[in-house]
Amino acid sequence: MGWSSWSVYGCDIHEDSIKQQAEAIVNLGLRDLGYTYIDIDDCWMSYERSNGRQTANATLFPSGIGQLSTWLHQRGLKLGLYSDAGSATCQGRAGSLGFEEVDAETYASWGVDLLKYDTCNQPPGTDPKLVYPKMGRALNATGRDIWYMMCEWGHDDPAGWAGQLALANSWRTGNDLMPLYPSFADVAENNARWWQHARPGQYNDPDTLAMGFEFGTAAPLDGNMLTLAETRLYFGLWVIMKAPLVLSVNFAREVRQVPHGQDSASWPRWILDIVSNREAIAINQDPLSAQAHRLWSDASNNSSPSAVFVPPGRLEVWSGPLADGDVALLLVNKGDNLSLINASFALHAPRCASRHMRVRDVWGQRSYGVYNVSFGLKVAPHDGELLRCSCASLRSYR
Ligand code: GAL
Repeated sequence: MGWSSWSVYGCDIHEDSIKQQAEAIVNLGLRDLGYTYIDIDDCWMSYERSNGRQTANATLFPSGIGQLSTWLHQRGLKLGLYSDAGSATCQGRAGSLGFEEVDAETYASWGVDLLKYDTCNQPPGTDPKLVYPKMGRALNATGRDIWYMMCEWGHDDPAGWAGQLALANSWRTGNDLMPLYPSFADVAENNARWWQHARPGQYNDPDTLAMGFEFGTAAPLDGNMLTLAETRLYFGLWVIMKAPLVLSVNFAREVRQVPHGQDSASWPRWILDIVSNREAIAINQDPLSAQAHRLWSDASNNSSPSAVFVPPGRLEVWSGPLADGDVALLLVNKGDNLSLINASFALHAPRCASRHMRVRDVWGQRSYGVYNVSFGLKVAPHDGELLRCSCASLRSYR
């Protein structure tokens, strides 16, 4: 869990703006909720190596990365950096291909806690199953605990090998998303295909939670921001898929109590409320790390819990087990009308023999009560209702 510079600033980064964002994350209470990694994406480094080492761009990071790392650690935060498994990064800065060991040592000496490792500018014939493990081993050899975030865009189906072979903690399953519906819905759909590969410490990564502004400009996308419903659906999908929750939100910009679309000089308070929801975060961070997936859609009414892939529909129910025996559900409405979505307990919680479940509204942080056989809700267009259900005895039915 953390924050990423990419969708906020692109290459227009500076140590001062990174510190402003970090301070805002502390002041808004996000650090204490678990958003601790501050990830500096592409462009922090120079175009050329100096004495064979990657160095920080001195104009953008005049105090150096080591200093910034200390500054972040003093505030209970962690530092994420970016590099590339090619000769140059996607923005043309010095890449790490052939320099894996020396770069991993450099990162460890700076106190880096996460490495995002991209896939641009590779010579033809480069085998990702060789270059990504090389960096994984180099990071491990430093002895420092560094989260290895592979960003190979899903080209070579990394879900099947990145965990074991490359020692990765997470791997991007697809291309960059845009902070708009249906871009995030498509990216989620792609990420969902690999649900069986998520496990504790190793996760499918659909990309960041980019919310509340136009890509790379740090300015709000006028009239085109995600609606409140879409923001809940976006966050709900990432939560239930156990995706890394990396917010690419301009937190240094003013937060206001404004309804959707009425103010272009700030971003609305409800984004903060949604990403700060403790019960949602608890589902995402659940120690079982079982990635939820779609078990029912209106395109396939007769799915069974053993189905590996249920086809997408207009109305869907995604679900996944939690460590304490509860089940997390997301009722998804991809259509344009308010629609009733019913979740059958036999399908989503086959181990609950009583077929009685206590249902909790995660967004509202309140109980709906105990229900028999199924639970249904009317869900708004492009919205996702996040629920936590616990098996209940027959007697508790009301
Ligand atoms: C892309 C990557 C993005 C961002 C960008 C930086 O390849 O998918 O998330 O890191 O490069 O240049």
